[in-house]
Amino acid sequence: MAKAICILTGNHTAFGVVFFKSDANGCVTVKGEFTGLTPGKHGLHIHSFGDLTNGWISAGPHYNPNNEMHGAPQDEKRHAGDLGNVDVNEDGLAKLEMEIQHFHLTGIHSVIGRTLMIHQNEDDLGRAGNEESLATGNAGVGVAWGVIGICQSNISEKALEEKSNQ
Ligand code: CU
Ligand code: ZN
Repeated sequence: MAKAICILTGNHTAFGVVFFKSDANGCVTVKGEFTGLTPGKHGLHIHSFGDLTNGWISAGPHYNPNNEMHGAPQDEKRHAGDLGNVDVNEDGLAKLEMEIQHFHLTGIHSVIGRTLMIHQNEDDLGRAGNEESLATGNAGVGVAWGVIGICQSNISEKALEEKSNQ
């Protein structure tokens, strides 16, 4: 079992905290909360690099170790970093909870050290029938991002949430 955490911030008001936890079967639970976003759907991905020297742009393309096209998190073939959309309510808040396969916190395809990013637009999940859809899901610019870090494995999510709220 492994745990990871990401704190997302950006140029404006958006903020997020996302936890990752892997189980013995290789399934990863992703759990998070976002504030300060515009209502509606926003694409969420892991981008290749943890380099934020030029904000979201230097984080590079979607993490794609298997050289696939962009897709939905449930798709067998997709970028490993494709996490679909976050649904933001009228108050700019969103809660996320999902389980995904083919996603790793350890080993050669580990996402640790890479950037988690939420975007301005909805991710079309590769279904829009144009070239950009198969690359980025037409999710537009990044609005909040952060590098995924290793988390103390015996700490509870509750304790971490309390820490991040301090
Ligand atoms: Cu992205
Ligand atoms: Zn993608």
